[in-house]
Amino acid sequence: MELQLRTGTADDTRAVGAAIAPLLRIHDVMVLTGELGAGKTTLVRGIASGLGASEHVASPTFTLIREYVTGRIPIAHVDVFRLDRVQDVVDLALDEVEDGACVLIVEWGDAVDELLPDDRLRVELTSEDPAAGADARRIAITAEGPSWVERADELVAVTGPWRADP
Ligand SMILES: Nc1ncnc2c1ncn2[C@@H]1O[C@H](COP(=O)(O)OP(=O)(O)O)[C@@H](O)[C@H]1O
Ligand SMILES: [Mg+2]
Repeated sequence: MELQLRTGTADDTRAVGAAIAPLLRIHDVMVLTGELGAGKTTLVRGIASGLGASEHVASPTFTLIREYVTGRIPIAHVDVFRLDRVQDVVDLALDEVEDGACVLIVEWGDAVDELLPDDRLRVELTSEDPAAGADARRIAITAEGPSWVERADELVAVTGPWRADP
């Protein structure tokens, strides 16, 4: 199940994250792909605020995993964009999710799907044609695996305001 969204501003992308947050459950895995500056961390900011987390959200550059624990469910946030030993970091993060009863959100340069569980929500962000405005983004959301397919109707409902024309 794939949904195509469009946002016009960073605030809009944050709002998409906040709208998805109520659907999240402990042990969920979200994969965010897109180029540098596409808006992955911006989306995580929205998810964190939607979960009620008050920590500042930033790309985990110097720490491998950042955790935001003050919301409804803790978030483990990993950015593997520039890392060489991706599998090590992902394994570490997955352990964290098992032990810490949190959701895992991973930012990637591009998909390295086989490293993550099959049950996951995948979000792909791309900048639109500059003619559409420098701030416009396409956000493709794919529900992969049984637990996300089960939430497909809810996903459709909460993302309605940003649905792109087919
Ligand atoms: N529609 C939009 N969605 C997300 N970010 C946007 C949008 N328009 C402009 N921006 C800007 O683009 C940048 C995205 O940065 P960031 O979220 O850190 O990207 P990434 O984590 O993918 O590298 C921010 O400076 C943000 O303000
Ligand atoms: Mg980032």
